[in-house]
Order: sequence, then C-alpha cells, then structure tokens
Amino acid sequence: MRSVVSYVKRGGRMTVGQQRAWNELWPSLGRTVGELPEGPVDFDDWFGRRAPVMVEIGSGMGETTSQLAAAAPELNYVAVEVYDPGLGQLMLRAEKLGVENLRLMHGDAVVLLTSHVEPGTLSGVRLFFPDPWPKKRHHKRRIVQPEFVALVASRLAPGGTFHMATDWENYAEQMMEVCSAEPLLRNRHAGEPGGWAPRPEWRPITKFENRADVEGRISHDLIFERV
Ligand SMILES: C[S@@+](CC[C@H](N)C(=O)[O-])C[C@H]1O[C@@H](n2cnc3c(N)ncnc32)[C@H](O)[C@@H]1O
Repeated sequence: MRSVVSYVKRGGRMTVGQQRAWNELWPSLGRTVGELPEGPVDFDDWFGRRAPVMVEIGSGMGETTSQLAAAAPELNYVAVEVYDPGLGQLMLRAEKLGVENLRLMHGDAVVLLTSHVEPGTLSGVRLFFPDPWPKKRHHKRRIVQPEFVALVASRLAPGGTFHMATDWENYAEQMMEVCSAEPLLRNRHAGEPGGWAPRPEWRPITKFENRADVEGRISHDLIFERV
C-alpha cells in the first residue's frame, strides 16, 4: 500500500442491482488490480480483439464512462475505480446500453499503470473530476502530481492523449502547471486562452459539473498529448 493515496476507502452500501451486477457480470467484465498476475495485462486477449486501449481513472458511478464507451466502439475501454458500488453501477449502466467494449478494474490506478500497463501502449488516459482534496493540508493527496503525470505520460503511445477535467480552479491550475512541466507531454490547446481545451461536446455532463455550475464554478478541460 502506498503511504499517500488519492482516495478514501468509502464503505457505501451496495444496492440489490449493484450486488447482482457484481455476482453476474463481474466475472466476465472485471478484474481486481491486487490479484493480477505479475506483469502487463494482455488487453487484446481480455477484450478478445486488438484495438486502441483507453483507460479512464476514477469512473465514479459510471455516468460518463458508460456513455463514452458506448460512443466509441472502436476503443477497448478500461475503467479503473476503487469504489465497489460505483463499479456495480457502471456494470448496470453498461448492461442497459449493451456496451461490449468496456472492462473494469477494481483498485488503485497508480498500481495498475505502474505494474500492469506496458510503457508506450495506451491510446489515451482520461481523468474526469478527480477528488479535489480542497484543504491545503490535503493537497498532497491530489492524484495529479509530477510523479503521477510522468507515469501517465510514460504509458501513453506517441500521440496518445491525457484528458483531464476539474471544476476546482486551483486544481485546474495545478494540472496545467504539472503537465506543462512534463517533457513527454505537450498541450494540444497551447494556442487557446490559458491553454484550456474547449469543453468537448461529447463529454457528458456529470453531477459534479452540474453542481459546479450551480455554485458558480467553472469547469476546465485540459488535453495533453504524448510527444
Ligand atoms: C470525484 S469522483 C469523480 C467520478 C467521475 N469521474 C465523475 O466525473 O463523475 C473521483 C473518483 O475517483 C476515484 N479514485 C480516486 N483515486 C483513485 C485511484 N488512485 N484509483 C482509482 N480510482 C480512484 C474515487 O473513488 C472517486 O470515485
């Protein structure tokens, strides 16, 4: 276990539906990071086909993830999340939408990327509304730190993208600063005001973004590319 992690282990009760998803769907759709055999996961084998791999870190309750996987059947879409009920909910949503190109990983994304993803292989990494850890003394728990960004960059294939979104202004600034300083990344939207990416229409609005909007905070998207 790493000493500082970006998440809290939330208890959270499972609904009947989420529990059913775990019982019936998890064996074919999911794997547990801590139980993976040593070395990189063979995604082609797991998905039963060769396709670009997209990893979404912290899929939460899966609203965005299920829709984005459904909208991109050409991708092998991997969601990694520590929160069991959220993964259950994501399986239910995927089942409802008939999504076939989605697999789930239960556990810490940092461990997954470090020990089980081959360098230079991912077509993209998405990180939408990561836990903001707003108190200054908790900032060290924010997942976007130089070491994490270097890890993500190293796992991307050349031209692969790292797409982040947050509704916390000073976290957005931290993301911009850290990613801009990473030599393996370049900002795809360096020419736009502030270097922010325009909000992509294809990214569904989540409750975090809605709440931010109601509370008068602006969400920022950042899209960096592996050089
Ligand atoms: C604020 S939620 C956002 C969820 C979702 N992306 C959305 O936009 O609705 C952040 C999620 O990231 C997960 N998380 C935080 N650190 C993680 C890590 N190291 N590995 C996997 N998931 C993580 C948390 O459990 C939480 O569900």
